[in-house]
Amino acid sequence: MNKQKYLIAANWKQNGDVKSATKLINDIVKLYKKNQPKCDVLILPPAIYLSTILSRINYYKIPLKKISLGIQNISPFIEGAFTGELSANMSKDFKCSHALIGHSERRHVFFEDDKTIASKTRLSLESNMITILCVGETITEYNKNLTKKVIFRQLKSALSKSLELFKSDHSKVIIAYEPVWAIGTGKSASLDDIVNIHAYIYKTLNKLLGTDHHMIKILYGGSVNNNNASSILKLPNVNGALVGGASLNSKKFIDICSSI
Ligand code: PGA
Repeated sequence: MNKQKYLIAANWKQNGDVKSATKLINDIVKLYKKNQPKCDVLILPPAIYLSTILSRINYYKIPLKKISLGIQNISPFIEGAFTGELSANMSKDFKCSHALIGHSERRHVFFEDDKTIASKTRLSLESNMITILCVGETITEYNKNLTKKVIFRQLKSALSKSLELFKSDHSKVIIAYEPVWAIGTGKSASLDDIVNIHAYIYKTLNKLLGTDHHMIKILYGGSVNNNNASSILKLPNVNGALVGGASLNSKKFIDICSSI
């Protein structure tokens, strides 16, 4: 069983404006200071607000090891004529330590395929970012009992261009299991399914990478909230959560962090 320091990540997606984002981070930091949760916290704001969020974290003198910053998506290319894209290296100018790769909205709304996700994974690791690779099945796949097959394919292809990088530094890789049908629906996966799939992810990582990879964190995501967090986070092989909707409410988010 894998129990290391928990990571609770706030994925703000494409929400808010500079005023609401500033208020949200101010409130999160104040509640964080008051409650002193035991987990590491990661904020993934819309990239255009990274500078604002960084300056607020600095203002409150919170070390970036405790509340770190990440980017929700990166370009599959290093640099060049790719209008609208942002690179992992650019995000490092704003002290981002983490990059989210292969989120289901990137896969299903923006049609990112396994090959693109493999390129992004490689670039993220080459840029020395902690790479959060998201995997998860759709409702149709779930109903057809294809979850494990889908996850195996997603892990195998995402790792295909980065096996050596993965093997050389496990601390740079985090997997987030997010069933597509649980994201933003208010209906999280059952505790049994979470236990089963997290164990399967470890089994698959060991198979793909050759040795025991229990030091890789696996987060669960999909309708995590302040009511269900504590039972989810207690499960074996769950090392944290990727939180969308509930991370837009400072109190709910810090309650999730404090439920560990
Ligand atoms: P949710 O989103 O918590 O709103 O379900 C999770 C995610 O998309 O990472």
